[in-house]
Amino acid sequence: MGGDRAQPGAMILGVGGNLPARVVTNQDLTQWMETSDAWIVERTGIRARRWISEDTGASELAVPAVKQALERASARLEDVECIIFATLSPDHHFPGSGCFLQQHLGLPGIPALDVRNQCSGFLYGLSIADAWIRLGQYRRVLLVGAEIHSTGLDLSTAGRDVTCLFGDGAGALLLGPSEAGRGVLATRLHADGRYAKSLWIEAPNSRAVPARLTHAMLDEGKHFTRMNGRHVFTMAVSRMPEVIHEALSASGHELSELALFVPHQANQRITEAVAAQLGLPEEKVFSNIETIGNTTAASIPLALRDAEDQGRLKRGDLVVLASFGAGFTWAASVVRW
Ligand code: UT7
Repeated sequence: MGGDRAQPGAMILGVGGNLPARVVTNQDLTQWMETSDAWIVERTGIRARRWISEDTGASELAVPAVKQALERASARLEDVECIIFATLSPDHHFPGSGCFLQQHLGLPGIPALDVRNQCSGFLYGLSIADAWIRLGQYRRVLLVGAEIHSTGLDLSTAGRDVTCLFGDGAGALLLGPSEAGRGVLATRLHADGRYAKSLWIEAPNSRAVPARLTHAMLDEGKHFTRMNGRHVFTMAVSRMPEVIHEALSASGHELSELALFVPHQANQRITEAVAAQLGLPEEKVFSNIETIGNTTAASIPLALRDAEDQGRLKRGDLVVLASFGAGFTWAASVVRW
């Protein structure tokens, strides 16, 4: 029996992903900043990430991911009834990337919602998709997570803690009403705005008088992501196991039934610490951070796509998805594949 559901919730009909072609290795980073492949691999598990090489918005990066998700779902573009777009790096401040994606796809008129919950954006979006489907409001929901980090990174040594982590990427799911007990069984979401500034971008900001972006802000590097890495790390390894237990309990399932844990790919050491606390063996934990880095809202759908490609997700498997990131926000979903 499936957890929270009064009516059948969302089932994953198809998953897709897309990465830019340009590979940026740890060695490549050394041309701009004081760092080393050894340091980055030891602290993060990342060896390379993908960056765009020409003007591309998150919405454009998402298009091939959407097409792959539709193909795998044997669905047509016209089947899509609404778009939920999770990103912290929208094409423009407004309108949302969901509207731009809708334009690229040629689907005028359907609703497009942007979700701004950073690393947990995809699971917040999944929760909305699940609720809409459960209400009977939509039968085919396109959920996208896409990020262009590379154009917002401080390539100097001052930014090396952040820059070594992040990559560009896009992932997408097509969701529809659940059948035969499959799909989202339970989701739990959290946020704690007391720590909003532990991982954030200060500028441009609409609260600044006289202007949201000034030369002084640029000179001070306020347009770059700043992070208290230790704080994020410590909170992530305690909050993620908690929310996973919470979601599992809401779903009526136990950790021992789990086939695969697919965490947001923040840092391999975070994944390993969370898995160790849950007592999960390596074969039940999915990771693809080594070659693509942390792609924020795109990381869970990209991980699902890769896990499916590697034959690590089989129909009927019990899967747990979990995230932690800026806000702070954290979340977990229990899914019957
Ligand atoms: O999706 C959620 C997003 N964020 C995260 O998940 C981040 C979680 N935190 C982390 O991943 C880790 O905190 C980092 C990988 C960012 C940093 O690792 P750490 O072991 O916490 O190092 P630290 O920040 O305590 O820094 C230790 C030293 C510092 O040098 P000093 O002050 O001791 O001289 C840093 O400047 O390591 C230095 N450092 C680097 N050195 C070489 C930081 N980044 C780098 C780097 N290369 N890329």
